[in-house]
Amino acid sequence: TERRPLIAGNWKMNGLRADARRLAVEIGTLRQFKPDAAFDLLVCPPFTVLEAVSQMIENTGVYLGAQTCHVAEKGAHTGDISAAMVADSGCSHVILGHSERRTNHAETNDQVNAQAKAAHEQSLIAIICVGETEAERESGKALEVVAEQVKASVPDDSSYGNTVIAYEPVWAIGTGKVATPDDVQEVHANIRKVLAEKLGQEEADGIRILYGGSMKPENAKELLALGDVDGGLIGGASLKAEDFWAIAQSCP
Ligand code: G3H
Repeated sequence: TERRPLIAGNWKMNGLRADARRLAVEIGTLRQFKPDAAFDLLVCPPFTVLEAVSQMIENTGVYLGAQTCHVAEKGAHTGDISAAMVADSGCSHVILGHSERRTNHAETNDQVNAQAKAAHEQSLIAIICVGETEAERESGKALEVVAEQVKASVPDDSSYGNTVIAYEPVWAIGTGKVATPDDVQEVHANIRKVLAEKLGQEEADGIRILYGGSMKPENAKELLALGDVDGGLIGGASLKAEDFWAIAQSCP
């Protein structure tokens, strides 16, 4: 199965309406100049501007995603947003289990698994994030920790049509430190192996595995050229249209 690169921007907690609209228009305009470029472009703004961004990117080919969703479809969950609401806001994708959610909101593998199932039920593509901490990397446990996260966080109903994995070493997020290409390829290949054991080789071969962690225009080309790297999940550099676009242009 051919894996079309996915370049995803995680805006995190950035974007008041005016700025979000502007950024969305810039990205949409760039995409429209090159409608045939062989990559998918996705923006994941905060919930509060999904509607505004959705309007700005209409008919540009840019996809829209949210940054998390609740496991339940509706109910007494003050402050939470369901997968149905995410889909209803015009999203095709949702990021799940980002390390900032795992750390700041104590999200567990089991919860991420349930969130992904809820997303799948709404026909959303779940972008499931995994990654080791610096201490885990230094003690030689990176492969093992990431494999465990994949096994537990990825639901059994996952397929290449509804699931993307993002490998983000926690120590590389927002720090300017990037994992070496050899380490990235090693982890990605191992993730694909775990996916094959879990879901079968065909699904594993089709599932896109993104790298995230200080990806910039300067290092994107080398990372995106790796055999098992099928795109990027970009934080800081996704907030500038020209940097985000330059990363997308670095796809092989
Ligand atoms: O989701 C994106 C990642 O956390 C990477 O963030 O590009 O700012 O390091 P960053």
